[in-house]
Amino acid sequence: MKTDRRNFIRIAGVTGTGMMLPGISQGDTGKQDKKSDPFAHIRELSEQDHQQHFNMCGYSAPKIEKVRVGFIGLGNRGPTHVEALAAINGVEIKALCDKRMVRVENSQKILSKHGLPAAKAYGGSEIIWRELCKNSDIDLIYIAVPRGPLHAQMATFAMENGKHVAVEVPAVSTLEEAWKLVETSEKTKKHCMMLENCCYDFFELLTLNMVRQGYFGELIHADAGYLHHQNNFPVPESGDMWRIRESQHRNANLYPSHGLGPVCQAMDINRGDRLLLLTSMASNDFTMGKMASELAKKDPFYKEFDTKSYRGNMNSSLIRTQNGKTIMLQYDITSPRVYSRIHSIVGTKGIFQKYPLPGRISQGKDDWFSEDEMAELTKKYNPEIIKRMGELAKEMGGHGGMDFLMNWRLIDCLRNGLPVEQDVYDAASWSAIIPCSEWSVANGSNSIRIPDFTCGTYKTNGPLDISMSQGGNTTVRPLPGNS
Ligand SMILES: NC(=O)c1ccc[n+]([C@@H]2O[C@H](COP(=O)([O-])OP(=O)(O)OC[C@H]3O[C@@H](n4cnc5c(N)ncnc54)[C@H](O)[C@@H]3O)[C@@H](O)[C@H]2O)c1
Repeated sequence: MKTDRRNFIRIAGVTGTGMMLPGISQGDTGKQDKKSDPFAHIRELSEQDHQQHFNMCGYSAPKIEKVRVGFIGLGNRGPTHVEALAAINGVEIKALCDKRMVRVENSQKILSKHGLPAAKAYGGSEIIWRELCKNSDIDLIYIAVPRGPLHAQMATFAMENGKHVAVEVPAVSTLEEAWKLVETSEKTKKHCMMLENCCYDFFELLTLNMVRQGYFGELIHADAGYLHHQNNFPVPESGDMWRIRESQHRNANLYPSHGLGPVCQAMDINRGDRLLLLTSMASNDFTMGKMASELAKKDPFYKEFDTKSYRGNMNSSLIRTQNGKTIMLQYDITSPRVYSRIHSIVGTKGIFQKYPLPGRISQGKDDWFSEDEMAELTKKYNPEIIKRMGELAKEMGGHGGMDFLMNWRLIDCLRNGLPVEQDVYDAASWSAIIPCSEWSVANGSNSIRIPDFTCGTYKTNGPLDISMSQGGNTTVRPLPGNS
């Protein structure tokens, strides 16, 4: 690791150091000429930060005819993936791991429901997952434990042990973890795909296809977010209060990729453009501390959460890309609002906006298209993958079908030796918004450079083909009882 990079990680990974990068001004003109370009030195710095060992963007790993899979973390999210993979031909579920053995047993029931053999069980310890990673009968490891340092630790160890990785969002929580993930994927040539399911939602894929075909012209600005009132942190079945703890300790845009992922794919981030600068602002907390106090009065379980240390309810971050586009990314899971990821992009010829539902599109007039016009556009531009797999994915379920589509496509790519559609650079850069926004909030909303995890190869990396491909030959078994 070079000194420049080590320093940058230290600065950006630790809040409250009071550091401001010189010369980064909010009044940038966007000019590309080096002499007059206030971003020139930032570009140069980013090229020096890190040396790429191998370019994982567009990388085709050797085909795996039968993908042997292990799962770590079988709480709320893990079993959704088990259920999906149990229905896909060309998959063998070899191992299941959770520190709570009862969770492993619950997922074994999913396998027996599908008529599949029991998987090797790993449980009863916080570190038994390491044994699963060493199991030579496994090609791909799914990771769905609580977010935080475990995601990167497990993903890195799994790749070091020769496994491809599918890790839940966000993949990392610090820049140091992000670089480690990138370096490990490059050195081992193992895929590290973050399971950003929203990239596989239907309106997102429709509009991505329209973007690819130039319908919206050149893209200018995106609005995105994760605005989801999560009923103020109910106690999960496990009693693991990792969500509430996160909001006590970090003041940041904590869950960026549901909003950012689809927007980055449309804007060719890491494939022609890159995220460059970020500035972030947080509101105070107006609900979480009060709620914890109220709950603690009635239930001693909440006593430890009755503190004044809650961070902001609402985070708004602004990002500028290398090619001069902007993104507004919001995060709020504790205010009483209607669910939204916004998902709006304006280009030189038109605009789309998914939320409030239903999704809308406009081109060439100061109004949204009517329902009939939308139906026509959907018919014309629905991508091949939706035409082929959309109805089946809806039937298989998982957030309306997007989870199944994502899981199917990942297996399909591995079986056919195709590049995965979210690579390690996407995982790192979409998740890096957390530490970068944390730094910005802690430093008076000063702007911070987002690392270029591709080390400059974004300039030549080819575009993503998710909306263009109809997928390979991977088939699906009928759901139990539906045969
Ligand atoms: N993509 C999505 O739509 C989506 C939705 C929900 C959650 N998530 C992500 O999925 C992840 C898991 O969320 P969840 O709601 O399932 O959490 P959860 O608390 O319900 O489940 C986590 C599971 O991990 C297990 N675990 C914890 N530490 C472990 C260890 N050291 N070894 C083995 N098992 C361990 C726990 O026992 C638990 O069963 C989070 O990162 C979250 O951000 C993503």
